[in-house]
Amino acid sequence: MQMFKRDLCKEWNIISWRCQKEFYSKKNKVFLYNFTGSQGESWDWVIKEYRNRHAMSKEAQIIQALYAEGLAVPKIIAAGDGHLILEYLPGKNLLTWFEEQEKEAQQPAINEGITTVLEQLASWLADFYNIMHRKYGYSIVLNDVNLRNFIVIEEKIFGLDFEDCCAGTKEEDLGRLCAFILTYDPVFTFWKYQFVLAIKDIIVKKLNLSWDVVFEEIEKELQRMSQRRQRPDISIERINVIK
Ligand SMILES: Nc1ncnc2c1ncn2[C@@H]1O[C@H](COP(=O)(O)OP(=O)(O)O)[C@@H](O)[C@H]1O
Ligand SMILES: [Mg+2]
Repeated sequence: MQMFKRDLCKEWNIISWRCQKEFYSKKNKVFLYNFTGSQGESWDWVIKEYRNRHAMSKEAQIIQALYAEGLAVPKIIAAGDGHLILEYLPGKNLLTWFEEQEKEAQQPAINEGITTVLEQLASWLADFYNIMHRKYGYSIVLNDVNLRNFIVIEEKIFGLDFEDCCAGTKEEDLGRLCAFILTYDPVFTFWKYQFVLAIKDIIVKKLNLSWDVVFEEIEKELQRMSQRRQRPDISIERINVIK
């Protein structure tokens, strides 16, 4: 395969490789590969093939900056022609974790495990915004803040997917995050409202944001979603209970 250049194989003493699976991705092609070295050792890396090269160099630059500052993101192993080879994070996607939590939910709805993960997410986000602001000199946000872009390994959070980062406010990011959470299937359940209120208590508070402004951003995102997806069931009236 032309993708694995000869020097990469040489550098890592790779003698063979195999594609293990393809991850769900709307924007790119993302695969898990297993490699075997000359001593018989084997390991996994993720290969992300980008739809466009600009997105790849932007993401590589951001991951590099975050990694250098010690933020929990995958290490870049190599960068090539429109693709990155990344350290594999052997954890659970935060959306899978979230869906499992809702299925297994008991009273209290928000247990200690959930609180710990949200505290971890809050510090990951706080560090991310600080590092980006320091590096670029203005407020940069994730923009694509859906739960699939986080991996949880034993309650520690790692972030992925920085190609949509752009100038913006933290309130916009948090509003989008809450709007995504409320509209994962099944939409607007009692448990999802509880979860968003836990985000308000833990993440919005830690980031020192105004809930009123975040709330307006949730409304805006729900409005965009309902138009884009033609979903009359996604209406802003449904969040009045958490105002
Ligand atoms: N380094 C990694 N370790 C583990 N899983 C990963 C890694 N990178 C990506 N993934 C998985 O692949 C999916 C898609 O990757 P992502 O970087 O979000 O690309 P996209 O831009 O296509 O959304 C993620 O949701 C995650 O499940
Ligand atoms: Mg993604």
